[in-house]
Amino acid sequence: MATILDGKALAAKCKERVKQEAASLKRTPGLAVIIVGDNPASRVYVNSKRKDCEECGFFSEEYALPESTTQVELIALIEKLNAREEIDGILCQLPLPEAIDEEAVLMAISPEKDVDGFHPMNMGALLVGKEGFLPCTPYGIMEILAEYGIDPKGKHCVVIGRSNIVGKPMALLLLQKHGTVTVCHSRTTNLKEICLQADILVAAVGKVDMVTADMVKPGAVVIDVAMNRNAAGKLCGDVDYPAVSALASAITPVPGGVGPMTRAMLMQNTLLAAQKHQR
Ligand code: GUN
Repeated sequence: MATILDGKALAAKCKERVKQEAASLKRTPGLAVIIVGDNPASRVYVNSKRKDCEECGFFSEEYALPESTTQVELIALIEKLNAREEIDGILCQLPLPEAIDEEAVLMAISPEKDVDGFHPMNMGALLVGKEGFLPCTPYGIMEILAEYGIDPKGKHCVVIGRSNIVGKPMALLLLQKHGTVTVCHSRTTNLKEICLQADILVAAVGKVDMVTADMVKPGAVVIDVAMNRNAAGKLCGDVDYPAVSALASAITPVPGGVGPMTRAMLMQNTLLAAQKHQR
């Protein structure tokens, strides 16, 4: 039976450490969260982020803008937040309404306040191995691996998904830790064969039961990034958890695995931003 990689417990530990470090700063760290429109999933995420800020002793501001908000209005708000000293981090919840160019909005956030790590400056820093904000989900996964003594060095790491938010930065972080990395995606023709070679398998697709037991090498470490609902309406990831957990050496549950660590790393990045701004 696999070790359950308890992201919830680790996240609580991380947030406690962040809270203690934040308390020693001259000024309370501040996070501004922007949400545009009324995507129900986004609303849940934004509420959680507010709660996390309270737990860590941060101050937070929420900007809930209507679906009809224009790109110009949104960027004007971001520029105002960029200029405010007491705001250390700015997060614009994705997805944005179709009429808004996501890239232009992410580019408008000052790289020094980009606690999501989505600005091309921070993405580029990650690519070349320089200091910058790391995207929270892959960052959280690296923390889970470290906590459980799982070293990617020399391992075949297979990442399913190539998004800017998860798949690509995940591949870079595993590579930085000397993993041998393969990135699979929707056009990959021999997905099962590649997955069967994985010592560490990261699934970030968003499709129920995408990873079945016949795709997993016995003893592999399985990281499930997705947050889906199955036909019965129950929260689940990409991995067929009951079958895969019987043969993996370690696995993240959904919920309670990667999700809480994503949130904890946002707090970590906000603390880091505040420390830099107060230096
Ligand atoms: N939408 C889904 N995940 C994320 C995230 O990590 N950050 C932001 N800003 N939006 C998201």
